[in-house]
Amino acid sequence: MADPLIAPSILSADFARLGEEVVNVLEAGADIVHFDVMDNHYVPNLTIGPMVCSALRKHGVTAPIDVHLMVKPVDAMIASFIEAGATYITFHPEASEHIDRSLQLIRDGGCKAGLVFNPASPLHYMDYVMDKLDMVLLMSVNPGFGGQAFIPATLNKLREARAKIDASGLPIRLEIDGGVKVDNIREIAAAGADTFVAGSAIFNTDDYAATIAKMRDQIAL
Ligand code: DX5
Ligand code: ZN
Repeated sequence: MADPLIAPSILSADFARLGEEVVNVLEAGADIVHFDVMDNHYVPNLTIGPMVCSALRKHGVTAPIDVHLMVKPVDAMIASFIEAGATYITFHPEASEHIDRSLQLIRDGGCKAGLVFNPASPLHYMDYVMDKLDMVLLMSVNPGFGGQAFIPATLNKLREARAKIDASGLPIRLEIDGGVKVDNIREIAAAGADTFVAGSAIFNTDDYAATIAKMRDQIAL
């Protein structure tokens, strides 16, 4: 399995000091920056767009930026985030009319591509596009808000996704998003995740480095 990556979700950061927050969390040991894009259409909340991604790059952020699109339609935002300096771009299959084309757009733009599965969405969308995937992201909460509780059924789904990825032999990351905490990250890793999004669990603590170190300890066991 790939090296584990800790991906703080900036949804729970202080938006009034976003540049500083991102620099701080990276200095605290985060590997990649999880960037939640919500449109008040596909999900019932509104967040940040490509201008903020560009602004982070201009602020000197060189770490990978993991753009999680919760928007419908997706293709125009894919183009904008390629331009804005995204590293990964993931989208929900239900939000794209042509999933294969959207994945190809991401790769053609030089970014890494991924599909995101809501808690009740079936994994079969993966099956015919495995060769176009760099990431599979399983939602362990219904998308739209930080601070929700991890849905336990996601553990079995992680095992299923891990089996599909391993059977493919392809270097596809398996990311988990929603309700990830120091006290459940170990069983989440055991179920097959290698990339861990955590928003409130990191940004709602005073010492980001200590929290990230505790998470790493849990998944190293
Ligand atoms: C929810 C977002 C998540 C969210 C996770 O729609 O995709 O990335 O910020 O927040 P926590 O870690 O607080 O559940
Ligand atoms: Zn997310």
